[in-house]
Amino acid sequence: MQKFELICSVEEYASLDELTDGDKYLIKMATDALATAYAPYSQFQVGAALLLEDGATVSGSNQENAAYPSGLCAERVAFFSAASQHPNKSITAVAITTSFSLQNPIAPCGACRQVMAEYELKQNKPIRIILAHPGEKVYVINSVRELLPLYFSGEWLKK
Ligand code: THU
Repeated sequence: MQKFELICSVEEYASLDELTDGDKYLIKMATDALATAYAPYSQFQVGAALLLEDGATVSGSNQENAAYPSGLCAERVAFFSAASQHPNKSITAVAITTSFSLQNPIAPCGACRQVMAEYELKQNKPIRIILAHPGEKVYVINSVRELLPLYFSGEWLKK
């Protein structure tokens, strides 16, 4: 038996002031998207904003449904929207936030990580993930692969 380690390295910024103007702007866009969240069941609003290679931005928010599994997380709303509106542009970064001040920034769920990993693999360029919340602390992870190292790959379906 052999063991190997999968390491996820996270940059922690103590305050928004430590970020570049571009990252601050993307967090602001994600924060603005919170106003469009439809979360009458969980009351938990999530906003996401994507930066594309040419500087365009696309945002999304969580959209819930009375038939619970029919709803969708903010990240997937934003990624699917970007992929359908700008199919040929690669995604440089995503900022994700919530309206709640928590101990740490929120992190994307497993299903959203899988979706983000697919787009990262497709474009063959890393997508930076910026995790924020109304508190000051911000986490940055430099690729989706780092956050979901053993993701399910579409390559396996081409066997
Ligand atoms: N949610 C997101 O939008 N993103 C995540 O990564 C996890 C959870 C949403 C789904 C649901 O509307 C609410 O947060 C509570 O789970």
